[in-house]
Amino acid sequence: MRVGGSVQVPGDKSITHRALMLAALAPGRSLLRGALTSLDARSTASILRQLGIPISALRAGAEVTVRGRHRFAQPAVTLDCGNAGTTARLVTGLLAAQPISARLTGDASLRRRPMRRVTEPLGLMGATFEPAAAERLPFAVRGGKLHGLRHDLPVSSAQVKSALLLAGACARVDVSLREPDGLSRDHTERMLRALGFVVADRAGRIELSAWGTFQPFEFEVPADPSSAAFLVAAAVLGESGEIALPGVGLNPTRTGFLTVLSRMGAALAVADLTERMGEPAGTLLARPAQLVGTVVEAGEIPGLVDEVPMLAVLAARAQGETRFRSVGELRVKESDRLGLIAANLQALGQRAAVDGDDLVVEGTDAPPRGRVRTDGDHRIAMAFRVLGTVPGARVVVDNMACADVSFPGFVAALDSIRRRR
Ligand code: S3P
Repeated sequence: MRVGGSVQVPGDKSITHRALMLAALAPGRSLLRGALTSLDARSTASILRQLGIPISALRAGAEVTVRGRHRFAQPAVTLDCGNAGTTARLVTGLLAAQPISARLTGDASLRRRPMRRVTEPLGLMGATFEPAAAERLPFAVRGGKLHGLRHDLPVSSAQVKSALLLAGACARVDVSLREPDGLSRDHTERMLRALGFVVADRAGRIELSAWGTFQPFEFEVPADPSSAAFLVAAAVLGESGEIALPGVGLNPTRTGFLTVLSRMGAALAVADLTERMGEPAGTLLARPAQLVGTVVEAGEIPGLVDEVPMLAVLAARAQGETRFRSVGELRVKESDRLGLIAANLQALGQRAAVDGDDLVVEGTDAPPRGRVRTDGDHRIAMAFRVLGTVPGARVVVDNMACADVSFPGFVAALDSIRRRR
């Protein structure tokens, strides 16, 4: 199949959540362009509205206006984070510093995900939870006056790091954090710095100093590199042509997918580099290539954590074996991604296995045929839909609607780059 065309990928999910929250805390009017309007982004916007922050409707192509204020209002209802882990963890951090009490919940997938990694350090800062151990949603958080925190994260997690930095920034207390493996995405640090906060990286410790104020801002959200990854992968699996994806975020803590894919033999290029609020972005160009297997080391995982489903699918079409080391954290994403990737590849006649906390995929030419179980996980659905584009494939994905969690219009975007001639 020939590939071609230029596609505007929707706004970055991680950055949209953070931009909405930082704007909500800044007294005055902030303006976001290119914000993601997916289900997850809507969960954050509707929770902030329930906390008394007027936010205009999230509609594709429309600017989003946020009228922020220092103090949130006591919410009248339980705050529903839907499927969004980032909403749940970061909002918990915001609420820890507000003198109100609020109850949070989420969908069945989110209610299974671990929250202690956030509630425990926020408890050390002075927030209280009901139930006190707050292992999972639902729980209530009562915020108040917080103390500073020096903490070593149990896993490298941008959601945990951001919850603690946001709590510290709101409460104006020092926060010092260390991540155990590679650095997770640093959007919160970059955005806080762009707003005038002092966030230093001292020998691997992220240190927020207790000064700075939230100022309203205007910001054009870059396109999401994690969403772009699905189209890049489809282009790499094509037979000829080239696609262009303008304005994609190229923050180095998010480009692990591109690094590994290049190592596997893909021909990728970047043009028109720009920077917005400390976030680099540019046009991503991708072409078909024959891939070879690789080893993805544990330290590389935080930089491509959301791209493992897509990379594993690509590895199934590469020559030789690919090993993803230490990907146990994938068990607690929107689904048990580790188990589902292996089970779905096997169900389609591809070769994959879980080996302890590693995922091992052996490339094959066998046409993928069968049914994919997503458990409602957007990234599993999109990765396997891309596998369904290879010659001879017959892949049925049990739920494509869940792609709307992060990439509204994904199926149309994928179809638009495939040229039938
Ligand atoms: C995110 C961080 C990652 C990622 C998620 C978005 C964020 O989660 O998987 O999709 O916006 O901070 P972890 O922090 O749990 O690794």
